[in-house]
Amino acid sequence: MPIPRVTATVDLSAVRHNLSRVRALAPTSKVMAAIKADGYGHGAVPVAQALAAAGVDAFAVACLEEAVTLRDAGVTTRIALLEGVLSRDEAVEAAALGLEIVIHDRWQLELLASLPIDAPLAVWFKLDSGMHRLGFPLTEARALNEALLAHPNWQLQGWITHLACADDLTSSMTQTQIAAFETAMQGIPGERSIGNSAGLIAWPQARVDWVRPGLMLYGASPMPGQTAADLGLKPAMNVVSRLIAVHEVSAGESIGYGATFVCPVAMRVGVVAVGYADGVHRILPTGAPVLIHATRVPIIGRVSMDMITVDLRALPQAAVGDPVTLWGAGLPVEEVATWAGTLAYELLCGLTNRVHYRYL
Ligand SMILES: Cc1ncc(COP(=O)(O)O)c(C=O)c1O
Repeated sequence: MPIPRVTATVDLSAVRHNLSRVRALAPTSKVMAAIKADGYGHGAVPVAQALAAAGVDAFAVACLEEAVTLRDAGVTTRIALLEGVLSRDEAVEAAALGLEIVIHDRWQLELLASLPIDAPLAVWFKLDSGMHRLGFPLTEARALNEALLAHPNWQLQGWITHLACADDLTSSMTQTQIAAFETAMQGIPGERSIGNSAGLIAWPQARVDWVRPGLMLYGASPMPGQTAADLGLKPAMNVVSRLIAVHEVSAGESIGYGATFVCPVAMRVGVVAVGYADGVHRILPTGAPVLIHATRVPIIGRVSMDMITVDLRALPQAAVGDPVTLWGAGLPVEEVATWAGTLAYELLCGLTNRVHYRYL
């Protein structure tokens, strides 16, 4: 059997543990787990199966295709389509699969109103409390509630709004958004949903009828000042490749494309079988860490399509075949993301189909 070049090992017990952290923080809220983008790169189906077994209340995906994948795999839990449907055909299919359709814009309202469907249709309304991405203006909440009267088969699941700055404790925006949403919703029946991971971690007022965590379920921290460990979260993914060559390179010789790293002394250089075609960002600079034998060693030179090169001066015992962790236990994905000038979200969902997945 061939040995996989790069393996992402996903620990589903960590995902379940992280759900228990959500429940501890928001004990009276129902949990809609965000498993869009293939479960943030962890594999939506296994993650959904693990969370469903742990009693999660619903899932959130971005689009119909993602929900179909889950239903095809036998997932029967409630699923909301966060961006709603894009066409009448999608709406009919969503209804047939018992999916819950978020309506965020007037054109979607009209599309659903024009459907020749009498069967029950589960809908959420999304309101824009200040992020100005998706959602109806707050001033339309009352009219939306009244629109339900014209569609007796529409079953309102609740009202959603999304926070723009929940990860920033110094911003007043979250409180402003929540207050505006609550004011607009006064006297309007139906369940509310406000907080994503950062919202539910940092803002107790965002823990309403429903919370919608994503990132924290995978064991990464959404809060810049707090690590996953600080929040009691367990990282669910370990990405590991291996050394496929170890060289002695003379002082003054350069490494890799563009010859951007020049060896200051004679040194051991390792070549790791992972590159940007696997999801390791090319922007990672010289100095960004990988983990070998629990020791951080720096990447040197450019990340190429299939390989990276690392400085092995701190690890004289490193040899061909040794595992190399790109992120996971001992090297938080949040930290690697900072080196790449991005967020854990982008690294996690950026692994490519060349990576082999293994589930614990
Ligand atoms: C509408 C909505 N709710 C919840 C989430 C989950 O957010 P997070 O992964 O930050 O918890 C997202 C993710 O982007 C989202 O778009």
